[in-house]
Amino acid sequence: MDIKQLLKERGQEHLLAEPLGGEEEAAFYAALEALDWDLVSHWKDPGDLHGRGVITPIAGLRRAEIQAKRAEFEAVGVEAIRAGKVCAVLLAGGQGTRLGSDAPKGMYDIGLTRPLYIFEQLIANLLQVTAHCGAYVPLLIMTSEKNDAETQAFLAAHAYFGYPAAYVRFFRQEMAPAVDFEGRLLLEDRGKPALSPNGNGGWYSSMKRAGADADFPAIEWYNVFAVDNVLQRIADPVFIGATILSGKKCGAKVVCKAEPHEKVGVMCLEDGLPSVVEYYELTEEMANARDGNGDLLYLYGVILNYLFEAKQLEKIASRSIPMHVVKKKIPYYQNGAYEKPERENGYKFETLILDMVKLAGSCLPFEVEREHEFAPIKNKTGVDSVDTARALLEKNGVIL
Ligand code: UTP
Repeated sequence: MDIKQLLKERGQEHLLAEPLGGEEEAAFYAALEALDWDLVSHWKDPGDLHGRGVITPIAGLRRAEIQAKRAEFEAVGVEAIRAGKVCAVLLAGGQGTRLGSDAPKGMYDIGLTRPLYIFEQLIANLLQVTAHCGAYVPLLIMTSEKNDAETQAFLAAHAYFGYPAAYVRFFRQEMAPAVDFEGRLLLEDRGKPALSPNGNGGWYSSMKRAGADADFPAIEWYNVFAVDNVLQRIADPVFIGATILSGKKCGAKVVCKAEPHEKVGVMCLEDGLPSVVEYYELTEEMANARDGNGDLLYLYGVILNYLFEAKQLEKIASRSIPMHVVKKKIPYYQNGAYEKPERENGYKFETLILDMVKLAGSCLPFEVEREHEFAPIKNKTGVDSVDTARALLEKNGVIL
């Protein structure tokens, strides 16, 4: 069918408003044809409004128990790392809009008396583990079309901050279109659909498509982590050992919530399966409920550091991860002008890694001490910011 006819049928006639002509028009139409229009149709039917199943508390591994079995867990984790069974996956495809820097988030300099980039700190954390184990783990880095070239060039220019290049691989995630509140596709420029990274839930399929792990056939576990928690312990052998010994298909590092309404994703069971719900999805009663020891019943906040079993991921890959339709401020182009909205003006389509926990079928919540392992950089100032992360790094002896 003619592209113009198709656009009309999809309620996208506005895309034809600006005459382009020639090569520009051909490129625009080709880009439109390549779009995932099924995805766009989700804007009317956000999967996340379909409600939750029955939510109940989940049992986790508390710090005291971890401490008591530390040596046993660590031995199993170190052995797995030495056998090449563990790899680390850095999710660095996000746009970090809240931080407000144009560069990839990992390139942000958090140093005070010397440069200290987020990537550098993460790799330093990983190097501590690999030095302790006497073996490197493959480091697979997910980027997006928007930040891939810059990220790769930056890390290469810094010699991967001391990590051996032979163990580093990059792969790109897919992009998804953005629409306004009426489902009309937004443009980022003349003849260019507005595209943004499609969320962190697609990491496994993108990684497999790119064959980023192909050179490391022994991998049995993927430790997936966010770019913004500068204190996290990556490929932590104690966490790996505990998850392996638990017989579960997945492990999640969690912190005890600081207060009942803390704005973190909460680990629980949903219809008997491990699941992460948003803090606002818990009723007031659930958020405040406590057990016999006075601990919150819904105690565990996730920090986006998961361990997934490779075999289980293969099975998950054939099932669809729910699509989230998220309201965002989306810069756009219209009639020769570029707009940077102050308020949310449209929807983006994202899949989220936390939905993979439910698909994994079983999960071990593994408690870590937030003062030592949780310093996320989401904002420039205030909560979860460069300031709070700096204070926590200093507390942990990092010279800034
Ligand atoms: P966030 O949820 O903090 O999103 O990502 P973000 O896009 O980085 O930041 P804001 O919301 O625009 O400020 C959590 C982790 O998932 C990665 C991010 O890079 C971060 O490590 N991520 C997020 C991706 O890799 N791809 C995405 O499409 C989204």
